Amino acid sequence: MDDEPGTALAIDELVLRPWRVTDAPALLAACQDPEIIRWVTIPQPYLSADADAFIAAAMTMWRDGTGAPFAIVESATDRLLGAVTRFGPDGHQATVGLWLVPEGRGRGVGTRALRLVADWTFETTAVIRFDCFIMVGNEPSERMVERAGFQREGVLRAWDLHHGGVPVDCVVYSRLRTDQ
Ligand SMILES: CC(C)(COP(=O)(O)OP(=O)(O)OC[C@H]1O[C@@H](n2cnc3c(N)ncnc32)[C@H](O)[C@@H]1OP(=O)(O)O)[C@@H](O)C(=O)NCCC(=O)NCCS
Repeated sequence: MDDEPGTALAIDELVLRPWRVTDAPALLAACQDPEIIRWVTIPQPYLSADADAFIAAAMTMWRDGTGAPFAIVESATDRLLGAVTRFGPDGHQATVGLWLVPEGRGRGVGTRALRLVADWTFETTAVIRFDCFIMVGNEPSERMVERAGFQREGVLRAWDLHHGGVPVDCVVYSRLRTDQ
């Protein structure tokens, strides 16, 4: 779709861009990864219709201003490396979630994407508090958000309902506008 809503951001070899209908096969493949399934609450099983619905919802979020969902791609090839989604702003707050395909891990893609979205959010909105919620035990994710300038606040008991409605504790991190 040429008239897709949203903004693209670039850093180094990466582009963060709005999702396209044509991303559905790559998104469907990515969401079969056991680590993404383990740590991110996505439909189970994840089917073609789920990828289509995610992309449609992402476009709606850009259109109605309820969020900023980006595909993280390699600029040279447009290969899908991951997803970073800002939910909000909701008042002075916004929340972020992120995952990477295995080939995208171990090279700072997540840290750089997260930092870029946080910086862009503070530059272009009135957000004061940007936060994220990480299931207890997800150490790579905690290290990533700390590298991106987020501070650990504590553990929220039964914060999320994971697959099948299982309550899980989450660590809450935040980065404030004044932390920059
Ligand atoms: C959480 C997740 C995104 C972290 O990915 P990651 O690759 O470990 O994190 P980053 O992209 O920040 O990369 C960090 C690694 O790249 C290295 N790196 C290289 N260049 C870098 C750069 N410019 N900046 C930061 N790190 C860099 C770091 O040293 C680090 O290596 P290490 O893992 O050997 O310590 C990934 O594990 C994932 O997708 N997991 C499944 C889904 C998930 O858990 N999502 C989060 C839910 S809250």
